Amino acid sequence: MADRRQTIAPSPVNVGDYERLAARCLDEGLLGYYAGGAGDERTLRDNVAAFARRRLRPRVLVDVSAVSAATTVLGTDVSMPLLVAPTALQRMAHPDGEPGMARAAAAAGTIFCLSTLATSRPSEVAEQAPAAPRWFQLYAFRDRGVTRALCDEALEHGFGAIVLTVDAPRAGRRERDLRTGFVVPAGVDMPAVSAATGAPACPTPAEFFSLLDTTLTWSAVEHLVANLPVPLILKGIQTAEDARLACEHGAAAVIVSNHGGRQLDGVAASLDMLPEVVDAVGGRLEVLVDGGVRRGTDVLVALALGARAVLAGRPLLWGLAVDGEVGAGAVLQGLQEEIELGMTLLGTPTPADITRAHIAP
Ligand SMILES: Cc1cc2nc3c(=O)[nH]c(=O)nc-3n(C[C@H](O)[C@H](O)[C@H](O)COP(=O)(O)O)c2cc1C
Repeated sequence: MADRRQTIAPSPVNVGDYERLAARCLDEGLLGYYAGGAGDERTLRDNVAAFARRRLRPRVLVDVSAVSAATTVLGTDVSMPLLVAPTALQRMAHPDGEPGMARAAAAAGTIFCLSTLATSRPSEVAEQAPAAPRWFQLYAFRDRGVTRALCDEALEHGFGAIVLTVDAPRAGRRERDLRTGFVVPAGVDMPAVSAATGAPACPTPAEFFSLLDTTLTWSAVEHLVANLPVPLILKGIQTAEDARLACEHGAAAVIVSNHGGRQLDGVAASLDMLPEVVDAVGGRLEVLVDGGVRRGTDVLVALALGARAVLAGRPLLWGLAVDGEVGAGAVLQGLQEEIELGMTLLGTPTPADITRAHIAP
């Protein structure tokens, strides 16, 4: 199959090239699981289209002799305002799995967020990628002991924030998985899920979600904030109302996200919800956004609309599928180059220079 990869894009130069290559590397079921969204995939498509609808407003005759995308997110230094989103089951894409992805993020100088539905335990990622600044994405299980044990393991192993995903009390209706009959391949283990069920693996994505606590409300957020020694980030905020509640209940940051179009189909693109969340928060906490970021210029658009940083999910999965840790690293490096070139041409030498004046209303 290596030859087929060569004929498509001998030297992938952007995320789109990696996506096309990955489509040839992955079998139908895996590709559908990674690429697919819920229902008619309207939100999935709109996440990408929302960036294409926006227009940047560059300023000229600005000294751009020293441009750097470096910034901080919740006080952590990062080389660029783009972090690695939590995505499940990375070892299905490539044997390098989550440790490889974490090492790629560390080499790029950015944060790696490990999914609860990972194929490696938090301790394994910490051992195999000790340099990676890392966050842990938490799904709250019905069995509170399982949730606590997961959090404790992450905290013991240097995960610097807990990212509670709040948009997935059940799995969205992912019809590509229904069509292909996708099941997690034998031998791919999810240690957290195994701990919850006491069984070795969980065959379908919908079954993971049946283990989660659907009674979760804002009081759980308050409880977590009071008991965690690290910041709590809420992932999956989509309205001004919930953004205000996140501030009132002690979250350190929110991620404006619709789970990459995989949950409620028909919601607005994350980018389109960003301004109302930024306005509602009024600087009380950091606002991140994910969904549809495929270009460095997309990152500039998100920053112009008030995001502190973005997260990318599928672009990193495509890099991982094509060439493991090296491929994920190449995707991150390419995006950083695009971000810094874009900043140069926008006349904004640092992320702090990017404002709403840099985007057409
Ligand atoms: C295959 C796949 C698995 C995902 N798994 C998780 C997960 O386990 N936990 C979570 O909070 N979000 C998960 N997400 C959502 C991502 O964190 C992120 O919100 C989304 O991928 C952003 O959209 P993008 O793929 O267009 O960048 C997943 C997304 C994909 C594509």
